[in-house]
Amino acid sequence: MEISGRTRVCAVIGDPIEHTLSPTMHNAAFEHLKLDFVFVAFKVTPDELEKAVRGACALGIRGLNVTMPHKNSVTEFLDEADPAVKFLGAANTILNQGGRLRGFNTDGVGALKALKQNGVNLAGKKVLLLGAGGAAKAIAFSLSKEADELCILNRDAAKARELASVLEPCGKKIVGNELSSRQIQKELPDSDLLINATSVGMTPTASESLVKPDWLKPDLSVMDIVYNPAETKLIQDARAAGAKVINGVEMLLYQGAASFEIWTGCKAPVDVMREAVLKQISASE
Ligand code: ATR
Repeated sequence: MEISGRTRVCAVIGDPIEHTLSPTMHNAAFEHLKLDFVFVAFKVTPDELEKAVRGACALGIRGLNVTMPHKNSVTEFLDEADPAVKFLGAANTILNQGGRLRGFNTDGVGALKALKQNGVNLAGKKVLLLGAGGAAKAIAFSLSKEADELCILNRDAAKARELASVLEPCGKKIVGNELSSRQIQKELPDSDLLINATSVGMTPTASESLVKPDWLKPDLSVMDIVYNPAETKLIQDARAAGAKVINGVEMLLYQGAASFEIWTGCKAPVDVMREAVLKQISASE
């Protein structure tokens, strides 16, 4: 693709940023749809965040993805925020609309879309969510609209209880508790969907899983948000147990697809994006 004076720029900002998959994912999509866009990555330290965001706006950068450690602090610089950003206090996507910065959080909708596209229907279902960090919170916010029951377990139990209590007004049965083997074993038998939203299983702890293989069963769906490695120990164990599995690449893809659609107004070519991301992951494994 030729870069010209008309090419529009999107970027991801974070620190560290060297291993981001976003440029690969979005450039593959721009190229496939022959859109005159380019996607780059910028390392931005916390003390330079405001200057970076104002600079991006001044340069007419069309869209930003925002990653660690800026998802919360970037909300200060937004002119508008969608309901997910307001609830979560965190944004992962910014659209520069003629100098107005509009913030979105596509993590939760990305998780939900990944589930739906992989045949997991949440109506009437109980979800067991491991973790209560930023990603877990975004997922819980979206799930609470669709599932019937949500049990959130976290190592720091107070965070799980706090998240459950802020979601309570949605009228669903939502509880928070400590993450322990005993609690997982207690909650898993009547759960339909298990989601690992902790960092356990991520390289360099790829041999770890919070769930013992013999606790898994064929009528369970299992999603892991960890995408590095693409097949975590939990995903491998769940597949071996006959469960339906949705790996972290799917959530990464659908949150990226939602951002892409916000910036371009075009339907994201998810299969093309998946192929590009998997190629980069396998090259780095
Ligand atoms: P992210 O933005 O990816 O969600 P985060 O906000 O730092 O990152 O959240 C990390 C999550 O993984 C938290 O739920 C964390 O539990 P604590 O809140 O108790 O720290 C969880 N986590 C990280 N390491 C863990 C471990 N070894 N065992 C269990 N949970 C772990």
